[in-house]
Amino acid sequence: MNKSKLNVAIIGLGTVGSGVLRLLNKQKNNIKNRTGIELRVVAISAKNTTKKRSVDISPFRWIASPLNIAKDPNVDVIVELIGDMDNTARKVIREAINNGKHVVTANKSLLAKEGSIYEELAREKGVFLRYEAAVAGGIPIIKVLQDSLIVNKISKLYGVINGTCNFILTKMESDGREYSDVFSEAQRLGYVESDPRLDIGGIDSAHKLALLSCLAFGTALNFKAVKTEGIDHISIEDIQEADLIGYKIKLLATAEYSKNKLTQEVSPKLIRKGSPIAQVNGSTNIIAIEGEEIGTTVFSGPGAGMGPTASSVVSDLVAIASRKSKSTFLTGDKTNSSNRNEKVSKKSSFYLRFVLKDKPGVIARLSGKLSNCGISINQMKQKPLPKQRATLIMITHKALEESLKKALIDIKKLKICEQKPVAIEIQEI
Ligand code: HSE
Repeated sequence: MNKSKLNVAIIGLGTVGSGVLRLLNKQKNNIKNRTGIELRVVAISAKNTTKKRSVDISPFRWIASPLNIAKDPNVDVIVELIGDMDNTARKVIREAINNGKHVVTANKSLLAKEGSIYEELAREKGVFLRYEAAVAGGIPIIKVLQDSLIVNKISKLYGVINGTCNFILTKMESDGREYSDVFSEAQRLGYVESDPRLDIGGIDSAHKLALLSCLAFGTALNFKAVKTEGIDHISIEDIQEADLIGYKIKLLATAEYSKNKLTQEVSPKLIRKGSPIAQVNGSTNIIAIEGEEIGTTVFSGPGAGMGPTASSVVSDLVAIASRKSKSTFLTGDKTNSSNRNEKVSKKSSFYLRFVLKDKPGVIARLSGKLSNCGISINQMKQKPLPKQRATLIMITHKALEESLKKALIDIKKLKICEQKPVAIEIQEI
């Protein structure tokens, strides 16, 4: 049964929090007409009262301490938009649930690590924990996995789920600019998280992937098992070389579940230009899901931003008022082995870039190490560099990743590399 009125408190009034206030104000009548639900903002809180915001906060009751809001008997639901692993966010969520309040949060890092704790607590207290805005901004992927695809046995889920990295990679490609230059632009535009390593180190994608895996496969939440690599070692040269052979470089998040084994990985990949994944530009996100009944279904849309993220938050409020909520993190069997990241051995081709000393015999020694590990070269190109150095670009035939790793360790010992080699898997999706 609907609770036709829901008293909402918003904690955190940055871009998303302000967007939620704006949207609730703009859509108040529409929400009431379409759902019969009245969403009333009864309290707000943030670190800074005087900060210039895109919405007028003066009509709302300001409570300085978020923890006091979490105890306020007049509040039904807390919208926690403080973000990151701020200890305040953790305390507010726990306190709110303990006081019998529903929680809506976009806090992907906190949920990826501790989501099952809060869900268990919420279940005990008979309240809801919802987090549509935590993954892929405006794409309603959480509801899709919880509801729409519930009868599908899902075997694989993959996509681009960090808008900042996708913005950087596509901008490098379109403008022919180096990583560091485009990264600074992304920071100026406000795309980059306050701790940039979360984005460019692939950690933000790993948080989101851990949440999605759990929903898609019914496995236990296991963020630590996500194999994670970022994009800060990718140069414009790699992007241009990939382009020459018909590929783009994307930071791909992939989760596969097969024979009771879950593999979760975030890393840059070469993706064929014709693939829908390669065609997603800028800060847009894309997620492809392979299910037994649906085949492959692809969802794409804005991965961040005020409007899209606020839209997801408000949809959670409507769902709570409608008493629609599903358990997510607690369905996974914590005792089975399915939550370990067990890489299924499969062969792929790899793009390799070495910066080498340009001396007789260097390529022979390097290719000897590849050959010793059973890796065969498909294409090779050498480009001279100043100071008696050369760049060597290689595309391998299909090989096991473990073999490549071993070869790269052996190559390092030769002391012929001037920089850490770049190795990117070519993924045919
Ligand atoms: N830093 C995130 C991104 C924001 O770039 O996708 C949305 O989660």
